[in-house]
Amino acid sequence: MSRFERKILFAIGLSVFLALGGSIFLARGALREVYRVGVNERFGAELVHGVEARRGQLMALRSGSEQVADTVGAAVEVELAKSRGTSKLESLLQELLERYDVVQGIRIADGAGQEVASVSREADPSGATMRTTTRDREVAAGGGQLQIAVEVAVPEVYFERLQAAGEASEVYSRLQRQSASVSDIYVWAFGVMVFLVIVVAFLIGAIVSRRVTRRVTALAAASRQVGAGDLTVTLPTGASDEVTELTQAFNDMVRDLRDSRTRIEYLQRIGAWQDFARRLAHEIKNPLTPIQLAAQEMDETYDGENEAYRKKLKHARAIIEEEVATLRRLVGEFSAFAKLPRADLSPSDLCDLAQSIQDSVPAILEDVGRGTPAPVEVRVSCATEPIRVRMDPMMLKRGVDNILRNAIQAVFEAHPSGGGRVLVRAYGTDDAGFIEVRDNGPGVSQENWDRVFDPYYTSKAEGTGLGLAIVKKVVLEHGGEVRLDRAPEGGARFSIELPLMDS
Ligand SMILES: Nc1ncnc2c1ncn2[C@@H]1O[C@H](COP(=O)(O)OP(=O)(O)OP(=O)(O)O)[C@@H](O)[C@H]1O
Ligand SMILES: [Mg+2]
Repeated sequence: MSRFERKILFAIGLSVFLALGGSIFLARGALREVYRVGVNERFGAELVHGVEARRGQLMALRSGSEQVADTVGAAVEVELAKSRGTSKLESLLQELLERYDVVQGIRIADGAGQEVASVSREADPSGATMRTTTRDREVAAGGGQLQIAVEVAVPEVYFERLQAAGEASEVYSRLQRQSASVSDIYVWAFGVMVFLVIVVAFLIGAIVSRRVTRRVTALAAASRQVGAGDLTVTLPTGASDEVTELTQAFNDMVRDLRDSRTRIEYLQRIGAWQDFARRLAHEIKNPLTPIQLAAQEMDETYDGENEAYRKKLKHARAIIEEEVATLRRLVGEFSAFAKLPRADLSPSDLCDLAQSIQDSVPAILEDVGRGTPAPVEVRVSCATEPIRVRMDPMMLKRGVDNILRNAIQAVFEAHPSGGGRVLVRAYGTDDAGFIEVRDNGPGVSQENWDRVFDPYYTSKAEGTGLGLAIVKKVVLEHGGEVRLDRAPEGGARFSIELPLMDS
């Protein structure tokens, strides 16, 4: 785990712990308070009193029904004593039934269990459920015994209420007993939850910080690679956050470094080639005059009679003079290349450059056609608005002239009797000015797109291969870029990009 990761985790842990630890403390206080108010002794006592009152009510009902049974027994005994028979019992029982509401029915049986008289109340129209019990009494009648069964009813709801009150009181007293430990249980449960939240926060923090630190570590490693000189590194940019911005900036920086290193390397290489060209020109130039003079002298001082030999001498002199002339031209171009000055930049308009190129078209056509203008259609165009760049107009014109000459040579070779077309176009975009030259010639095969800018790379019998090297040197000194690709017309497209003045 990196230091950065540890710091992030510590920050997450501390903030979660402080927030949740505080809330445990508060929750504990709040729970205690709730229990203190809700579960207290006064309510418990009231509930117990309620239960006792209900029980008392039922006891009163029970002793009432015992008294009623006693009264019924006594009344039957008196009646039997009065009338010495059971004939009038039926109406007595009816009377008793009407007098006492709790009585549901009365049944009298003799010693053998034979029913003597009985009455019973019609079912209660209100439909309330009743709990009935039977009170038995014995009375003496004419030497025998009579059994009296008095059925009394108490509404079921009295018992239910007693039971419900008992249960409520029981629950309450249990709550009261447990109140201290119950609030503790809640605090514990809350504590466990807090612990889980902290663990989850840690896990999420670890995952997030690992993702960030992995990218930061990759950046650090890539920076070390760049420091060691490897400019090929690029880092992937995925999500959109600050680390991505940093990675993007890093990639841009490496690309700029790579570009400027390529630029510097190319210019250094050109410098070495210029040095070489200077020495070569010097070494070749000096013996040329003596060679030419010697050939002249041999030809002119021969005074022999041999006509055939004289002819041979003349022929040799012509060859030597022609080759010396070619060498002189080459030497001229080499030393011009060697003396190529550095570009001197000043604010200018790319359209002015296009105009001056337009002016040199006839001379180039005539030169390529060796005296008669080559039948090639050349069009030069520019945007109506000025394209402000910093440039050395002379040097850049020389460069674009080289490109244009190559294009005219290529299309003239491909279409010697007409049909060749070359387009020179200057235009600007939001952040760069462009000047491109494209043709409908044979083009350059893709594997040579970079090589054509190397000094001395040529496919022509009389070429030096310096034209495009000069172009690239000049453009790089402008802080620009020159690229070759395929033109829409099928031939080559050379495109020079220069930074705009305001950017
Ligand atoms: N428009 C073009 N179409 C096809 N090939 C091209 C074109 N421009 C350049 N080339 C190729 O690039 C090579 C290098 O061009 P460069 O101008 O550097 O030298 P060169 O033209 O051969 O010699 P010099 O410029 O001295 O006459 C050319 O020889 C040619 O093969
Ligand atoms: Mg050329």
